[in-house]
Amino acid sequence: MFRIDIDNIDGKTESLFVYGEKYILAELEDHNILINYNCRQGHCGRCILKLVKGDVEHNDHLIEISRNELLACRAKPTSDIKISLRD
Ligand code: FES
Repeated sequence: MFRIDIDNIDGKTESLFVYGEKYILAELEDHNILINYNCRQGHCGRCILKLVKGDVEHNDHLIEISRNELLACRAKPTSDIKISLRD
């Protein structure tokens, strides 16, 4: 089980505990944390989040992302992670 800490827009950090089987976008939705998205297939880049700490694995995607970013619709955690909205 992995822990996902996410800094939300009102400055608080929420913690979720997940098995790492679902994409991060789906995990956030399951916990009523809504972020921007569009294609859900790694094509549009709308769901990019900042990866502050930890590791994720990405399935197929077309968008270039840097080492400290993730595509929430195509990424699953492989360790405890901390994420935030991109600034
Ligand atoms: S929703 Fe389009 S890349 Fe994630």
